Amino acid sequence: MHTPNAVPAVSEVRDLRREEIAAAVVLLARGMLDNPLNVAAHGPDRERRRRALERMFATLFAVFEQRPLCALDGGALVGVAGVAPVGTCQASALQRLRFLPTVIALGPRTTARVSSWLAAWGRHDPARSHSHLGPVAVEQELRGRGIGSELLREHTRRLDAAGEVSYLETDKRENVGFYQRHGYAVVGEDEVIGVPNWFMLREPATVSA
Ligand SMILES: CC(C)(COP(=O)(O)OP(=O)(O)OC[C@H]1O[C@@H](n2cnc3c(N)ncnc32)[C@H](O)[C@@H]1OP(=O)(O)O)[C@@H](O)C(=O)NCCC(=O)NCCS
Repeated sequence: MHTPNAVPAVSEVRDLRREEIAAAVVLLARGMLDNPLNVAAHGPDRERRRRALERMFATLFAVFEQRPLCALDGGALVGVAGVAPVGTCQASALQRLRFLPTVIALGPRTTARVSSWLAAWGRHDPARSHSHLGPVAVEQELRGRGIGSELLREHTRRLDAAGEVSYLETDKRENVGFYQRHGYAVVGEDEVIGVPNWFMLREPATVSA
């Protein structure tokens, strides 16, 4: 029987290369355009949201340490998973300063909403040392074919090998089951700028030698 899941979804999952960051930013902005938090923060105008998200993600990759993974199909980028290594996800004073112009450029109301959102996420961020997953997106027309799972399999394989705890936030209930299938458990829930959020943690599996 021919089902989409019977077809290998991607030809390659690997580290994102420096020269691929611009394309990854465009994919992430497009892929997360309709996520409830982004709609709540940036408003109903999709084009305005897309521009704002591209600027935010470009700044994220420029200012923070990131070891993103990507999925490729026939050489084309089809999925991206941002990964902040252990000890790097909470902004230093200098990183906040470098992020500020991008946030201020959003305009006063959006700046207030984004600041409140980031503060809420900061309050939930676990005190124990962890690698931080996100942003994550797969091209819309390719979702549900296992690409996200292939990204998560590689991500969790690395976590298990390194013995690292991983943490993430999500603003979509349907994503909770997806992450649970990869070993994450819900450790908190909160409403962030009016949007339900789930906070999830994954303990590393014991890897046999
Ligand atoms: C979440 C996401 C990365 C998963 O990637 P994917 O390639 O669709 O994942 P897979 O095909 O391996 O697994 C599909 C699972 O993802 C979840 N999912 C979430 N949104 C989905 C969508 N629009 N289409 C299909 N599956 C979706 C479902 O739980 C689904 O599980 P199921 O197979 O039991 O129905 C992708 O749906 C996406 O880019 N969503 C929009 C952006 C986003 O929410 N990113 C995560 C932020 S925390």
